[in-house]
Amino acid sequence: TGKFTYDSGFLSTASCNSKITYIDGDKGELLYRGYPIEDLAGKCDFLEVCYLLINGNLPNKKQDSDFKEMIMHHTMVHEQMQFFLRGFRRDAHPMAVLTGLVGAMAAFYHDQIDYTDPKARQIAQIRLIAKMPTLVAMAYKYSVGQPFIYPDNNLSYTANFMRMMFATPCEEYKVNPVLVRALDRIFILHADHEQNASTSTVRLCGSSGTNPFAAISAGIACLWGPAHGGANEACLQMLNEIQANGGVEKIGEFIAQVKDKNSSVRLMGFGHRVYKNFDPRAKLMRETCYEVLKELGLEDDPLFKLAMTLEKIALEDEYFVSRKLYPNVDFYSGIVQRALGIPTEMFTCIFALARTVGWIAQWEEMITDPEYKIGRPRQLYTGETSRKVPLIAERK
Ligand code: CMC
Repeated sequence: TGKFTYDSGFLSTASCNSKITYIDGDKGELLYRGYPIEDLAGKCDFLEVCYLLINGNLPNKKQDSDFKEMIMHHTMVHEQMQFFLRGFRRDAHPMAVLTGLVGAMAAFYHDQIDYTDPKARQIAQIRLIAKMPTLVAMAYKYSVGQPFIYPDNNLSYTANFMRMMFATPCEEYKVNPVLVRALDRIFILHADHEQNASTSTVRLCGSSGTNPFAAISAGIACLWGPAHGGANEACLQMLNEIQANGGVEKIGEFIAQVKDKNSSVRLMGFGHRVYKNFDPRAKLMRETCYEVLKELGLEDDPLFKLAMTLEKIALEDEYFVSRKLYPNVDFYSGIVQRALGIPTEMFTCIFALARTVGWIAQWEEMITDPEYKIGRPRQLYTGETSRKVPLIAERK
């Protein structure tokens, strides 16, 4: 047993070599393939970032239009997927539904495909990026009892997603470019984040050579947890609760509860395993948050005011300062999504949609790594030593 070192939570163990994403948590720096996230968010759209993450370089004009055409060509899902979806209870959590839907894609694009062939892997990657918006929107429409809206491939990737979410057959749907840009930015900021829990899950699951849709479905299941992608949902729930109990006036009481050693309450949307400085994504999300609130005339919305006051108080509080707990991307992304009209229980699905490209890029990198092996962590055994099985009559 002495041969292995226990590193709970992988605090100091690298699980792979990777060229995709770089984070400097002390500086608050995030690079995708060497490009700073601020630069990408300012100059590129989400599909350009997808191309970058998968291929290693930004697309030129021709590569960009070819890639976009290919993605938009694959936005429809098999009609049978509807029957599968209709098997879920209407009140099922959309993340449970999404885990099931993406897992079911493994049945549509099944094991007879040889994923050691780069072409087969490429088509799986295209299908996943292209179909995630359709599946997420279907899960939403089903939960609210509205008819599914088919993709419109003449729209941009993100505008098409918003239309599939919010249009109904009885009204004309107008795409608002400011809101589309805001959601596109959410996608860019969530596209990859090196070896977080869900990405490590995709790598570990995929390392057995399993079907990529199955591996991504495992990633979605992991992302659901409140310590990971579920944080934006948990953050909005927290804000709603404070609001229901008295709003801004009650922030002091809530913070005292968070600081109480005997309570398990956390300030959701604050703190990060890697960032011990401002999360760079949070800075960009905060800008987007103000843009969206202005566009929609929501600056005076009580919940947004509450969030901004809570942020200010926490950033000045010794407890958070000494532990280097800053707002993370989820603190603001929940607020922006709420303003866009996305219901709280859909937030993590939006995260999954955006992170799909990161999972795919990491899976591809693993499969093509010459040193790649099935993931097989070891353990420090702390149980009983070898002992005899007593007959049932002799057991106490
Ligand atoms: N509120 C109050 N106290 C906190 C918080 C928080 N949000 N986060 C950490 N702490 C305290 C914690 O109690 C501990 O204090 P002490 O040293 O007195 O025991 C100290 O800070 C260190 O915490 P930790 O749990 O050891 O830190 P970690 O690196 O294991 O946890 C985290 C990281 C993100 C799970 C945690 O900060 C957290 O639970 N945050 C709230 C949930 C959240 O917003 N998650 C989204 C993460 S970003 C999105 C993503 O990349 O998935």
